[in-house]
Amino acid sequence: MVDDGAFIAAARKARRRLPRLLADYIDGGAHGERTMARNRNSFAQWGVVPRALHDVSGIDLTTRCFGRTWKLPVFLAPVGFAGMFHHHGERGAAHAARSRGVGMAISTFAMAPMEKVAATGADVMAQIYVLRDRALTRDMLARAEACGITGIILTVDTAITPVRERDVRNGFRHLSRPTVLQVAGLLNHPAWVAGLLRSGMPVVGNINAYTTVRNVMGQARDVAAKIDPTLDWDDLAWLRETWRGTLVVKGVMCPEDAVRAADAGADGIVVSNHGGRQMDPAPATLDVLPGIAAAVGERLDIMLDSGIRRGADVVTALALGAHAVSIGRPWAWGLAAGGAPGVAAALDALAQETRDVMALAGLCDIAAVRAAGQKALWRF
Ligand code: FNR
Repeated sequence: MVDDGAFIAAARKARRRLPRLLADYIDGGAHGERTMARNRNSFAQWGVVPRALHDVSGIDLTTRCFGRTWKLPVFLAPVGFAGMFHHHGERGAAHAARSRGVGMAISTFAMAPMEKVAATGADVMAQIYVLRDRALTRDMLARAEACGITGIILTVDTAITPVRERDVRNGFRHLSRPTVLQVAGLLNHPAWVAGLLRSGMPVVGNINAYTTVRNVMGQARDVAAKIDPTLDWDDLAWLRETWRGTLVVKGVMCPEDAVRAADAGADGIVVSNHGGRQMDPAPATLDVLPGIAAAVGERLDIMLDSGIRRGADVVTALALGAHAVSIGRPWAWGLAAGGAPGVAAALDALAQETRDVMALAGLCDIAAVRAAGQKALWRF
């Protein structure tokens, strides 16, 4: 069992509340889940050095990343199907993000339309995939722009979806019972629905407001099949020309790819192994971070995710070169356990621990943590 850190109670509650199929969808990873475990183990190898006699009466967690300013160095990573975890769904998460002054990403597989999530006033970035049909991708970008979204996150580590054994066991991708859902997020668009109809998926109801489809995973499969597996660096250049706002590439795990992202004109990267849900075995993100920061830290803003569960993890990642971190499962658990207030509680827990660790390390703000670098840390 992987250690859930500061989120043990929320994770337990989420597991009690959700059907096993959904709890496992959130918790699980690819193949042997070795990367998922390694993400946590890697953080456990670092300590933060306590420092004495510093004035730490004012700890400031204000963070600049991807051209934005947040009150915490913690961002809500894109998480698909959050509308199935709690009726507050992605909009609930956005309300929590807004109340705590942090940013969030809306997944391509979100269940709330991006317009509604953006309308909460939260600092929302749209996570996108480049689809075989570039017109659909352009359409998504136009929708994002029209609702005031100024940044996109292109996920690049999902050319295929690997076996996730828990999902296979639970039949997650092959639900047979009819499922009624609000079709959703970036998918809730006439062009998408037309695509679904063409694909033979049974779709009934008012397609503008909501759609009844037979099988939510069937729909997801349909979208996943539209993701362009031939995507390469030239396509990133195409996206850079097409999208004028902030462009972040998520799923970079080596210095060579980070340099290519910078050369292609990206504004930032997310060092991510998708929380251990894609390549297994991949290295832990923390292990590859210093090399990536050395290669592109001056050119790009770097966010790190995968396994952040404690304030000490946040401080360690910042000291090793990240500008900010993001969390996936912790906010999904918070949402499932308690809706929007549950997501806010997850952010509060991480903020409090981060503040504690910074104060005891004599580090008053994020710039101080980043400047101290490995001097603030101890490798066990
Ligand atoms: C994800 N993640 C993800 N990433 C993405 O780019 N698009 C997506 O739709 C999803 N969907 C998704 C669903 C669920 C249930 C999880 C847990 C994760 C990956 C996510 O953005 C992030 O990279 C990881 O969750 C980070 O690891 P932790 O914090 O979960 O350990």
